Amino acid sequence: MKIVVIGGGSSYTPELVEGIILRADQINVEKIVFVDIESGKEKLEIIGALAKRMIKKSELSIQVDLTFNRIEAITDADFVLTQFRVGGLDARANDERIPLTYDVIGQETVGPGGFAKALRTIPVILDLCKEIENYASDAWLINFTNPAGMVTEAVHKYTSVKAIGLCNVPINMKEMTANILAVDREAVTMSFAGLNHLVYATNVTVNGVDQMPTLIEGIAEGRNMNMRNIHDAPWEKDFLLALKALPCPYHRYYYMMDEMLVEEKQAALEGGTRAEQVKEIERALFEVYKNPALKEKPKELEERGGALYSEAAISLIASIVSDDDAIHTVNVPNNGAISNLPDDVVVEVTCTVNQSGAKPIRIGPLPPELNGLIQQIKAFEVLTIEAAVTGSKEKALLALTMNPFVPSSKVAKALLEDLLEANKPYLPQFFNKECS
Ligand code: G6P
Repeated sequence: MKIVVIGGGSSYTPELVEGIILRADQINVEKIVFVDIESGKEKLEIIGALAKRMIKKSELSIQVDLTFNRIEAITDADFVLTQFRVGGLDARANDERIPLTYDVIGQETVGPGGFAKALRTIPVILDLCKEIENYASDAWLINFTNPAGMVTEAVHKYTSVKAIGLCNVPINMKEMTANILAVDREAVTMSFAGLNHLVYATNVTVNGVDQMPTLIEGIAEGRNMNMRNIHDAPWEKDFLLALKALPCPYHRYYYMMDEMLVEEKQAALEGGTRAEQVKEIERALFEVYKNPALKEKPKELEERGGALYSEAAISLIASIVSDDDAIHTVNVPNNGAISNLPDDVVVEVTCTVNQSGAKPIRIGPLPPELNGLIQQIKAFEVLTIEAAVTGSKEKALLALTMNPFVPSSKVAKALLEDLLEANKPYLPQFFNKECS
C-alpha cells in the first residue's frame, strides 16, 4: 500500500507515523510519501528523518520518500491524506485576530476565521483533486485539512474523487466519555450527528444501557470534555439537561459566545492567539524532532489539539482495506441521513465503513434545538464554498452575514474587506479572476 501525505512537513506527522507502526498488522504499508512545498523544505526534512528513525526502530520495512513533486507522489497512490495549511500559521493568526477587531470570535475553523481559511484552501484542494482524478483515480482521499467539513463538501461537489473528511473531535468525545464513565473506549457506543466542529453526540450506551444522563451530569459537574486548543469554559447544567444531547467542544463558541470572546480578546493581548501560541509550541517541537536520538513520537506533541487524529485515520483506512463494516464518525455527503438537510451537503455522522467507503447510518429529522443551529451553519458553509470556488463577493458577503458570530451586514462587509485584503496572495479567485 502506498500512502501519500500532502503537508507531510506538519508537526503532527510523527503521530501519523506512530499510528501506521502500531497498526502494521492491519494495514500493510509499503511506502509513505511526504509531500510539501519548497518553502517547507527544512520542516519536511526534519519530519522525514524522524519518520525514518521511528520506522527503523519498529523493524518494519516501510519506505519513506520526501518530495515537492505532487503528481509524481500521488501517481498510483492508494490513499492520499491531506493535512496542509495554506498560508501557514501567519494566515491562521490573521484569521484569529482580524475578527477580534470587530468584537467577533476569531477561530481558525469556525466563524469568519474558518470562512477565510476555506477561501484559501478550497481552490488548492480542488487542484489536487484534478491531479488525483488523472493520476490515481482509484485512490481514497482522507481529508483532515480544515475547515474539514467545507473542504470535503467542495471535493464532493466539484470532483469525482472518493473522499472522506476526518476530524479528531468525535473520537476524543468518545475517549472523554469513556474516562467520565470509567470504562474502556471500546465499551462505549455513541451516535453522532451534525457538522464538522458542530457535532452532537445524540446517544451514548454502555452494554446497551443509556448513559447520556450520567454523562451530562458528569460534564455539568466539571468533568473535562475539551480539546487542548479550546478555552475550557464550563457548561451550563440546565442547558445540557434540556438538550439531552452532548455538544462538541467547539459548540462553546456558539453557546458561550460572550465568555469565549472575552477569553480570546484577553489571550490576544497577553499570551497571544492560538496560532501565536502554536508557533512557539512548534518551534520547540521541531527542536525536539531534530534530535537524532529521538525515535518515537515525543510527549510534547500532546500540547497540540490534534490528539488521536492518527488513531482515527489509521483505523478508518484499516476498515476500508479490510472491508469490515466497522463504525466510524466521518464527514460524508448526507444522502438522506439527516432528513432536514439536503442530500449533497457534507455532514459529520456515524457511518459503517467498508471498501466502498463510508455509509451514513440513517438518523431522520433532527429536533429543532439541534436543527436550528445546524441549518444556519450549513447555509453559511454552502455560501462560503460557492464564494471560494467562484470568487463571488456577493456570496462571500451573504456567507459572513449568515454566520451567528457576525452581528450585522455592516460588520460582515467590513470584515470581508479586511479578510480579503489580508489573504490577497492566496485568493486569485477574488483578485485575479482570469486565473480562477
Ligand atoms: C482540534 C481540531 C482540529 C484542529 C486542532 C488544532 O483537534 O479538531 O481540527 O486542527 O484542534 O490544534 P492546534 O494545536 O493547532 O491549535
